Amino acid sequence: MLQYVTLLSLILAFLLLLGVIFTLQRVAKTRPDGGVVGENGFTLQGYSYALILLAVISGVGICYVLARDSPWAGHLMEWMNIVVRLMHITFGIAWIGASFYFVFLENALNRTDNVRDELAGNLWAVHGGGFYYLEKYKLAPREIPKSLHWFKYEAYFTWLSGFSLLFVVYYFNASSMLIDPRVLDISPLAGVGIGVGSFVVGWLVYDALCKSWLATKGIWFAVVGFLIAVGFAYFYAQVFSSRAAYIHFGAMLGTIMVANVFFIIIPAQKAMVKAATEGTPLNPALGKNAGWRSLHNNYFTLPVLFVMVSNHFPSTFGHSFPWAILAAITLGTAGVKHWLNLREKHQSGTNVWVLPASAALLLGVVFVTAPPAENKATAAICTQQVSMSQVNMIVQKRCIQCHSAHPTDDVFKSPPNGVVYDTPEDIIRLKDKIMQRVVVTKTMPQNNKTMITQEERDLIKCWIDQGALNQ
Ligand code: HEC
Repeated sequence: MLQYVTLLSLILAFLLLLGVIFTLQRVAKTRPDGGVVGENGFTLQGYSYALILLAVISGVGICYVLARDSPWAGHLMEWMNIVVRLMHITFGIAWIGASFYFVFLENALNRTDNVRDELAGNLWAVHGGGFYYLEKYKLAPREIPKSLHWFKYEAYFTWLSGFSLLFVVYYFNASSMLIDPRVLDISPLAGVGIGVGSFVVGWLVYDALCKSWLATKGIWFAVVGFLIAVGFAYFYAQVFSSRAAYIHFGAMLGTIMVANVFFIIIPAQKAMVKAATEGTPLNPALGKNAGWRSLHNNYFTLPVLFVMVSNHFPSTFGHSFPWAILAAITLGTAGVKHWLNLREKHQSGTNVWVLPASAALLLGVVFVTAPPAENKATAAICTQQVSMSQVNMIVQKRCIQCHSAHPTDDVFKSPPNGVVYDTPEDIIRLKDKIMQRVVVTKTMPQNNKTMITQEERDLIKCWIDQGALNQ
């Protein structure tokens, strides 16, 4: 049932957002006062491409719903995952690439040497076999050029595809991917509601902070903003499986980023273009504010990128204080970004401590997430030889529901990541991964669905420590 509801709402949300963007665009172009001119908007061709993509995703989604409970279901789910993930990565690279590039441009502008009065600065660059010369205006050029390139669809589509991916990976299978009864036993629908609702709350809190008196307080704004972010990380870790908690933290930051583009940056740019076209005085605060939000986005990029790949690293989300690890990595990676920005402005010399401090923090995380020292109980079990058949019995009892060529689990109809433990050889071959997931991080069995005991984990550890022998 949840699948139907979520899929339908996903498609509806997609259509709705496209509709909103489309309408705004039309309205802007047909305003009697001339509206936005020179906007290199989304052409009809662009819309057709978007609609074709949308149709493909919805088609796969509808097939998935039709094929539920047949072997096709898992297969289609996987393809939906591939298509949406690939879109998300592609749009994300375009967006973050542009963000890095423009912040670099801003930082690296030549502002002093032979700069015309109306300019803030310029920059010579060589790339891809060509020389480029760029100029940044202090305010706006005297006349707005006919074709003016806007950067926004990369942001919107990164968010749309990311939001869809959240459904494909976490919300369609909420009971196994989103919710961990050991953390909090809530219904899938409640989980999805809390997840989506938290993004709205995250934006409202952040936006209010940006408009509060703290906004002018520089470092204090950053400190309070960071503490609020940690609050969200903590909250997610009390509600969702730790893996899903990480993704929600990243999605919350990503939502703030795209909302910055949609609600602040693009409207400011439109207002600036309008003022320049009509010859009315330009409000410099608009550009400044948009630049400020854009800089925040730039600081969010590395933490969000970490979250995107975090799912592959159970030693991070599998830690007993997953939110604290996330907070430290967020601070460390944002610190690295800060140093990069300082370096581009040639100010890293006076702030030499930023990079070592960030690196030290990240190294600290490496140590904190190290495997725990052996406890007495495990040591006692390990005094005797653990046999392959003992381990095989545990695996047959706790793992092959999912990790088999023919899984019996109600959710995983094909072996997750292609990992199967049908024979002792399979187990031996994958012993290192088993050590990492079952013993060190305890992130397998997933959400401990098959209720493995600590003693069984210890037995597996001893068997591996003793050389993982097939006897
Ligand atoms: C309820 C289903 C389920 C059960 C039971 C389960 N797993 Fe998994 N396993 C998954 C899923 C889903 C993934 C992929 C997602 C991830 O990596 O977290 C996975 C991934 C893994 C991986 C990582 C594979 C890779 O390529 O990185 C290992 C190792 C693993 N499981 C081992 C085990 C072991 C050992 C057991 C039994 C003690 C077990 N699992 C029980 C669902 C399950």
